[in-house]
Amino acid sequence: MRPRYHDKSHSDTLNVPLHEMITFSPNKNIPIHRWFYYREGYSKAFVEMCVQKYGIEGPILDPFCGVGTTLLAAKENGFDAIGCDVSPLARFVSETKTRNYDIEKLQDAFAELKKVKLDFPREGRVDSWTAKRFHNQTFRELLVVKKFVEQEMKKNPLQELAYLALIDSTLRASNVERMGASLRNSKENKGYKPIKKFWLQKLELMLKDLKKTEQQGPEPQILDDDARQLKHIASDSIGGIITSPPYLNKIEYASAYKLELALFFEEPKTQLRSFVGKDVAAQGESDLPIVDAYLSDMEKSLKQMHRVLKVGGKAVINVAGGCFPDRVVKSDELLIELGVEQGFELEENLIARTIDCYQRNSGFVGKVNERVFVLKK
Ligand SMILES: C[S@@+](CC[C@H](N)C(=O)[O-])C[C@H]1O[C@@H](n2cnc3c(N)ncnc32)[C@H](O)[C@@H]1O
Repeated sequence: MRPRYHDKSHSDTLNVPLHEMITFSPNKNIPIHRWFYYREGYSKAFVEMCVQKYGIEGPILDPFCGVGTTLLAAKENGFDAIGCDVSPLARFVSETKTRNYDIEKLQDAFAELKKVKLDFPREGRVDSWTAKRFHNQTFRELLVVKKFVEQEMKKNPLQELAYLALIDSTLRASNVERMGASLRNSKENKGYKPIKKFWLQKLELMLKDLKKTEQQGPEPQILDDDARQLKHIASDSIGGIITSPPYLNKIEYASAYKLELALFFEEPKTQLRSFVGKDVAAQGESDLPIVDAYLSDMEKSLKQMHRVLKVGGKAVINVAGGCFPDRVVKSDELLIELGVEQGFELEENLIARTIDCYQRNSGFVGKVNERVFVLKK
């Protein structure tokens, strides 16, 4: 399909400065992109900037697709796209955000859904790790709504959207909040929260977004694949890559999203750096086995990116260095070196922002750069 990137309606996102583009924040006001907040993600503006500035062509691949920012922005601009992620939560959010829906059917189904009366038990306690993250009554109601969406909405065109609305409402209705890679007790009111109300409000907002945008671009393919293997992607088949791999310090996705994963999905089978310290410690060259494990995984991933790109195709990569108690590890620069070793040519290398690295016991350790670089095959 012919890209419609130069359509003026999309140029407003390009006024965002680079250091902001590489965060998820600008997505918070953008229809569909705002359906699930993913702190580790970047913005639609970043993807559109890459396409325009670096002449990225389709099909566009994001081997670490997260909640589908690259895929949705590609779709909105008429590009075919492919994404993969090891997290079932990330893949589900990406899929739900990038489908073409029949909005009239959805609105009819929503009008019916609002009339449904759910029976909430007033007693009964579950003693699980997840239950303890909620007020008792909220948790009982959450389980009822979840079962209703899973079982009673099987043939309902709203089912996926309703599930995503519920997943998104879960943290809001809980007694915890996300803090970096973990969950901590929330400082706010720990009392009862009306999960059904949150859920319907979110679903209503999602339907408004769909109506506003009237999405009908090419639906991307979303694969359960590992970026170190890209088993399902043929060599020399990809026009361009726009991606952000896990960062050296911030890759515990399974713990940050533990609540949603435990309630709605199975734990991801694998993670980048999942074998840290085991295989690599024995043969690694540095005294930080974690760094060796990360670089060895990223080397595999860069090799795959090189394999699947067409000659002349480019990979735009957003990544930061790592902060450790006694040093800053410039993994961002090391990834460029690894890319060049795989046969890429470095076309662009920008520092998007510099962050002071502090550690609890050592204080200020150094400065960490977050970079955007472009590798050309
Ligand atoms: C920095 S986030 C990408 C966010 C994305 N750019 C967005 O805007 O939503 C990195 C993603 O890589 C995924 N990931 C980690 N290890 C992976 C692997 N080996 N293969 C594929 N995806 C992986 C994580 O689950 C996470 O969603």
